[in-house]
Amino acid sequence: MEILVTGGSGYIGSHTCIELLNAGFEVIVVDNFCNSNRQALERVRKITGKKLKIYEIDLLDREGLCDVFYHNSVKGVIHFAGFKAVGESVQKPLHYYNNNLGSTITLCEVMQEFGVKKMVFSSSATVYGPTETVPLKEEIPLEATNPYGRTKLILEQILQDIHVADNEWSTTFLRYFNPVGAHESGLIGEDPNGIPNNLTPYITQVAIGKLNKLSVFGNDYPTHDGTGVRDYIHVMDLAVGHLKALDQVLTNNGVNVYNLGTGQGYSVLEVIRTFEEVTGIPIPFEITGRRPGDIAISYADPTKARLELGWHAQKGLEDMLRDAWRWQEMNKEGYLSKDRLIP
Ligand code: NAD
Ligand code: UFG
Repeated sequence: MEILVTGGSGYIGSHTCIELLNAGFEVIVVDNFCNSNRQALERVRKITGKKLKIYEIDLLDREGLCDVFYHNSVKGVIHFAGFKAVGESVQKPLHYYNNNLGSTITLCEVMQEFGVKKMVFSSSATVYGPTETVPLKEEIPLEATNPYGRTKLILEQILQDIHVADNEWSTTFLRYFNPVGAHESGLIGEDPNGIPNNLTPYITQVAIGKLNKLSVFGNDYPTHDGTGVRDYIHVMDLAVGHLKALDQVLTNNGVNVYNLGTGQGYSVLEVIRTFEEVTGIPIPFEITGRRPGDIAISYADPTKARLELGWHAQKGLEDMLRDAWRWQEMNKEGYLSKDRLIP
C-alpha cells in the first residue's frame, strides 16, 4: 500500500519512514529539503534495505503535487512538512502562515481531488499554551502563544472542518511532546541548522566539543529542582505511534487526537545527569536567566493513545540520550560530516 509522507526527509519523518518500510508499506516522500538533507533518505534505504520514492517538491506547488498523486496510488498521507521554530515564527509570522497553512490547504485540496481522505497530522503539545495543569489531557482548552503554535491550532481546526463537510475524511492529530533521540544505528538523527535551540542537541554538541557549555535557562521554577520539566519522547516511539495512527485513519472515518508522550517529566538537571551517566562525558553548564516564553512544567497524559491506539512509549530517557549521543558521535557535523564513521 502506497503512503505519501510529506517532510519525510526531516527528523521525525525519516525515522517514521523506517517503520513504514519495515511494516511493508511503499513510501513516497515529498520534501523540498528546506530543512533537511537527502542523505537522511539514503540512510533510510541503507537501514531498511528497501527503496522509497522521493519527489523534491514544495507542497505549495499544486501542479507538482497533482503529478505525484496522478502517478501513484496513494492511500493515505502522513503530513510532517512544515516550519517548526518558535522563535523564528515570531520574527517571520507570514513565512510561517504561508508555509504551514498554505501547504496543508494545497495538500488537502489535491487529496480531495484524487479521493484520498486519510491523513495523520503532526500537531504539537504547544497547542496547550502556557497552562501548567499537568498531566495534559487532550480535551483541555487550547491556546497558541506564538505564530508557530497558532499554525498548529488553526490546522487542527481546518482539518476538523474538512471532516464536517465530508465525513469520508479521516484525520488523526498527534500532539508530540519533546521528541529526542535517534535511530539506534546512529545513521539518522536530529540535524539542526546552526546553534541548536533544543536541549538535547545542545547537550550532544557540548559533549562532542562543538559548543563550550550549556546554559540552563532558569533554576527558579516551581519544580523539584527549580529547572524546567518536560516529557521527552524517543523519536522511534513516535514513529511507531504514526503507524498506529495510520492504521486508525485507514480503517475508520472521523477526527481523533492523541498525545504522544511518555507521561513522565524530567528536569533539565536530570537530563544533564542522565546524559553524563550513560555516556561518561561531563557536561559543563551554567545557570542563566529564564528563556522568554518557557513554562515550568509540561508532560502528557498518554492514556488515550494507549487505550485507543494501543500505543505507549517503550523507551526511557537513558535510551533517548544514548541514541542521541551515538548519532552525534558518528556524525559530528550531522549529515554534512566528512569525518563520519559510516562507510
Ligand atoms: P523537520 O524540519 O526536521 O522536518 C520537516 C520537513 O518538512 C523538512 O524535511 C522540510 O524540508 C520539509 N518541508 C517544510 N516545508 C515544506 C514545504 N512547503 N514543502 C515540502 N517540504 C517541506 O521537522 P521535524 O522535527 O521532523 O517535525 C516534523 C513535524 O512535527 C513538523 O510539522 C513539526 O512542526 C512537528 N513537531 C515537531 C516537534 C519537534 O520538536 N521536532 C514537536 C512537535 C511537533
Ligand atoms: N533548555 C535549557 N537550555 C537550552 C535549551 C533548553 O535550559 O539550551 C531548557 C528549556 O528551558 C526547557 C527544556 O530545556 O525547560 C526543554 O527545552 P527545549 O527547547 O528542548 O524544548 P521546549 O519544551 O522548549 O520546546 C518544545 C519544542 C517546540 C514546542 C514546545 C512546546 O521544541 O517546538 O516544545 O510544545 F513548541
